[in-house]
Amino acid sequence: GNKSRHHGELVDFEPVKIADVIDTTMPTISEDYEYQVLIPWGSPIEPGATTEYLGQPDSRPSSQEAALQTGLGHDGMWFFSSDHRDYVKFGRHFRPRCDEGMLCVNHEYGTNNHALGKSQPENLEDVRLSQNVHGVSVVKIKCNRRGHWRVVKSNHSRRITANTPVSFSGPAADSALLQNPNGNIPLGTINNCGSGPTPWGTYLTCEENFNGYFGASLGLVPTEEQERYGFSDQGFGYGWYQFDKRFDLSNSDYANEQHRFGWIVEIDPFDGTQKPVKRTALGRFKHEAIAIAESRNGRIAAYMGDDQRFDYCYKYVSNKSWKSAIHDGESPLDDGKLYVARFDDDGTGEWLELSIDNPVLAQRFDSQAEVLIYARIAADLLGATPMDRPEWTTVGKHGEVYWTLTNNSQRTEPNAANPEAPNSDGHIIRTLDMDDHLGTRFQWEIFLLASSTRGTENVFTDPDAAYIDPQGRLFIGTDGSQPDGLQDQLVVFDTNKDNPEPKRLLVGVSSDEITGFTMTPDQRTAFVNIQHPGNGSPSATNFPASFDGVTIPRDCTLVIRRKDGGIIGS
Ligand code: FEO
Ligand code: CA
Ligand code: CA
Ligand code: CA
Repeated sequence: GNKSRHHGELVDFEPVKIADVIDTTMPTISEDYEYQVLIPWGSPIEPGATTEYLGQPDSRPSSQEAALQTGLGHDGMWFFSSDHRDYVKFGRHFRPRCDEGMLCVNHEYGTNNHALGKSQPENLEDVRLSQNVHGVSVVKIKCNRRGHWRVVKSNHSRRITANTPVSFSGPAADSALLQNPNGNIPLGTINNCGSGPTPWGTYLTCEENFNGYFGASLGLVPTEEQERYGFSDQGFGYGWYQFDKRFDLSNSDYANEQHRFGWIVEIDPFDGTQKPVKRTALGRFKHEAIAIAESRNGRIAAYMGDDQRFDYCYKYVSNKSWKSAIHDGESPLDDGKLYVARFDDDGTGEWLELSIDNPVLAQRFDSQAEVLIYARIAADLLGATPMDRPEWTTVGKHGEVYWTLTNNSQRTEPNAANPEAPNSDGHIIRTLDMDDHLGTRFQWEIFLLASSTRGTENVFTDPDAAYIDPQGRLFIGTDGSQPDGLQDQLVVFDTNKDNPEPKRLLVGVSSDEITGFTMTPDQRTAFVNIQHPGNGSPSATNFPASFDGVTIPRDCTLVIRRKDGGIIGS
């Protein structure tokens, strides 16, 4: 049915209609596209991983097995061609291969019911299993001549879990607030939500709801700082603290473990022995995702959301060009300035620097390290604008930045940048820095209120994941209950248009979330994640298995292609 098609449009595929979605146990994709399932939970990555387990879809791995396989909660990800390092060296005219590369995939979380088959851990082994389905997978994948992608062996491939040794870098690295009385080395990354690549060829993974993994065996009277970061005596019910003292806020030996999470972590996809590095200059908050833009002089700006109701939008700017920093053996992410956004009513805004040189912050904090560790409190003091849950960011061809604001059920007072109270459907804001990403002033506009799509064939709500391609196609993945009986979806906009309309490319399965969009450099293969299908419960979907009501559903990646081999989104 392509009667109504406008040929030559940038976004030209036949969208999935509401009426096309009849089976919520399997995804529905545009008739112009096809998908393949890749790396479901339990796929072998590291040597010694058992494959036996994948043939037994009802079984769960041991904690040791889990640490060698893909985990749960597939979220942010990025595809790095095997030639990516040459691409970094030779620039955009170099054509990297598109049939082989490293796929970095975040494993945001798996509930205890999904990972363990019960709501609470009963021993340390249960906790280790839960911890080992969290983290990041770095996995080599390759496409054969028939267009089928599979995992292949590589010594760059690895699992990073809640127990992998990591290091700290940047202004807060040596702070006493990051050392524990018992001297334990820094371990692990958790709740790895969104992500972003760097211009120098590494992967950044973002620690979001880290507070939920801590609890307090003796109960908790939270400090002001703990309150602001949402720590409580039970956390989100994972129960790790009952068997692993590291996550027990009542254990004074691990008093500062809580400060070791909430960071952006840098991973080298081409060095399986590299220790992941937590970059403290980017601040500690519930990091959703990161999008890096390059300025005229090679300095970089990183745009980042803090996903909580009434939390903020941030920007980091490096002091040096990334090339000269790398040349000098430094990281562009260790030396720079961190800002938080104030959105003014007139469509402009200001980036407020989180600096200890500001007397307002010097009165509250002793050092720049403290400002960064308690970035949320510093941002409060500067008068940043409370937003409707800042999720992903992505930078378009004119340097414009798209920010997804997923929803805010608790907003009672609208402001210009968050005009709906309550905001049940979410919106997308577009900002443009007035000085090529380096400035302290920006312009902003509402790109779209998701509520405006209600009552139309193209309805979608709760925008979350975001990715824009070089031609201006904006891909948005949703996370929240969708209207009209739809499941979470992937929609595409042509941002070159004055009034861009979403077109529905994919609809997921019952209770899942669509997230983590990336492509091969030729834009002919895309990867997107089906996160927590059925919320881990087999009664609604058993995806990627077909419906039987009993097989454990598994988070997985979908490889997406146009049937005619064309550009994704076209
Ligand atoms: Fe992990 Fe805010 O989504
Ligand atoms: Ca998200
Ligand atoms: Ca979300
Ligand atoms: Ca999620």
